Amino acid sequence: MKAVVLISGNGSNLQSIIDNADRIDLQISCVISNNKNAFGLKRAESSQIRSCTIDPEKFNSKESFDEELIQKINQFNPELIILAGYMRILTPLFVSYYFGKILNIHPSLLPKFPGLNTHQRVIDASEKIHGVSVHFVTEELDCGPVVKQEIIDVESTDNAQSLAAKVLEIEHTIYPKVIHWYTQGRLKLTNNTNAKLDGKLI
Ligand code: GAR
Repeated sequence: MKAVVLISGNGSNLQSIIDNADRIDLQISCVISNNKNAFGLKRAESSQIRSCTIDPEKFNSKESFDEELIQKINQFNPELIILAGYMRILTPLFVSYYFGKILNIHPSLLPKFPGLNTHQRVIDASEKIHGVSVHFVTEELDCGPVVKQEIIDVESTDNAQSLAAKVLEIEHTIYPKVIHWYTQGRLKLTNNTNAKLDGKLI
């Protein structure tokens, strides 16, 4: 299945998806970044995957940026859009255009800790557990139906950095797994609040 991956930074999730692509029947048609310095662009290049940057400063609204993004993506006619550390909020225009075709990975146990700085917020709230969520993207930020979560214990010695490292490690196995469900046609978004795996509500 053809996919486009959107990134903003290091791209370690992109790397895990690249490394698993054959096994999960995924063909990455293009990697698109909103940040020309994203290390993920170098990862794409090293794997001979086409990539490009769309510079937000060249657009005077979020909508015009997303219109350009849609145009770029449509050159590849992908069936799936994978957000892998993409740190821009998508407009309703974009989300409705690709409804049911956008997956995101978020470093918290949603609905807890949507948004940024999740690891520090977990420490500040003295949480005992933390983790990662893969979810379908709908219009409300980090609120689309959760497909899969994985939990880690927060130890008394943890800080934001150690949590980020632990969470990233599990991200690298959970995301390819969920993407594979999607490429196998087992995973579907039914509406704004529900997703199904093998025909059963998740
Ligand atoms: C990952 O932890 C991912 O869950 C998070 O950014 C990191 C990207 O790392 N995404 C978000 O916070 C999205 N709201 P990576 O660039 O090494 O894959």
